[in-house]
Amino acid sequence: MAEAAIGGSAEKVSHEEAGLRFEVDGEIATITLDRPERRNAQTFATWSELARIGDSLPQQVRIVVVRGEGPSFSAGIDLRLLNPEGIPGQGSLATLAAADDSTFEQRIAQAQRGFLWLRRPDIVSIAAVNGHAIGAGFQLALACDLRILAEDATLCMREPALGLVPDLTGTKPLVDLVGLPRALEICLTARAVGAREAAALGLAELVVAGEELTRAVRDLAAALLSVDRGAATATKRLLQGARERTLKEQGAAERREQIARVRALFAGS
Ligand code: CAA
Repeated sequence: MAEAAIGGSAEKVSHEEAGLRFEVDGEIATITLDRPERRNAQTFATWSELARIGDSLPQQVRIVVVRGEGPSFSAGIDLRLLNPEGIPGQGSLATLAAADDSTFEQRIAQAQRGFLWLRRPDIVSIAAVNGHAIGAGFQLALACDLRILAEDATLCMREPALGLVPDLTGTKPLVDLVGLPRALEICLTARAVGAREAAALGLAELVVAGEELTRAVRDLAAALLSVDRGAATATKRLLQGARERTLKEQGAAERREQIARVRALFAGS
């Protein structure tokens, strides 16, 4: 079902190379980081494939769950990319360091595309995080609208400790959620934030026992699906834009969305 949605068996091979599994069950799609033997470390292929899943997401999907197979959500970037030899067929950061700015930027932008679609207004994305979410793993969790953490989950922005910056779109949601001073402290110490602290900081909507994670995600998805899709999409759009708008502008945006909603509700009556 999932392969058909994305486009056949050639795509399945591509998911496998990217270390991803993609399944669709009605209105719920699940993306599983599926290289537990490497703690679901991410590569350029992972990010390209994430972007491709976003591009071809079946229209009926309203909820996207992102989870990790095995003991950890994701150990972040595949550390082989930091070695000059890199990953066969994918190169390394050393290869990119030698490229011109435009090529390098394009490569990062392509990787970021894999994360950005998870905020689309017509879907709600949920990260189900167990074990470690480090670097790119933490950023993938931050790319989702909502996060449910298992009690053993830890979040860590390790990039600065490796001489890098977080560049997979995680810095803005982090600052939005915890504020600048706490984001600075978390990133510049590269420390691990435990699940309970994450919830207290607003980095998790819910913390549950590890064995309850799947059920908690299912329950949240069911609750989200109980609301009309058009209203959910319009409301998400409104909420997403609220921080950037003044109260007056937000009032105007509410009016525009409501006029469209009421017209849609009474169309044909
Ligand atoms: N890349 C490649 N392989 C990795 C990996 C990674 N990021 N993380 C773990 N692995 C591999 C290990 O090498 C090991 O392989 P072998 O069995 O062949 O030895 C296997 O996965 C299991 O690892 P551990 O035995 O260490 O597993 P653990 O459960 O005891 O510990 C862990 C898990 C805490 C995540 C630990 O593996 C770890 O610290 N990994 C490195 C995390 C890291 O520094 N990631 C980079 C973050 S920065 C980033 O992501 C940059 C960016 O976005 C730009």
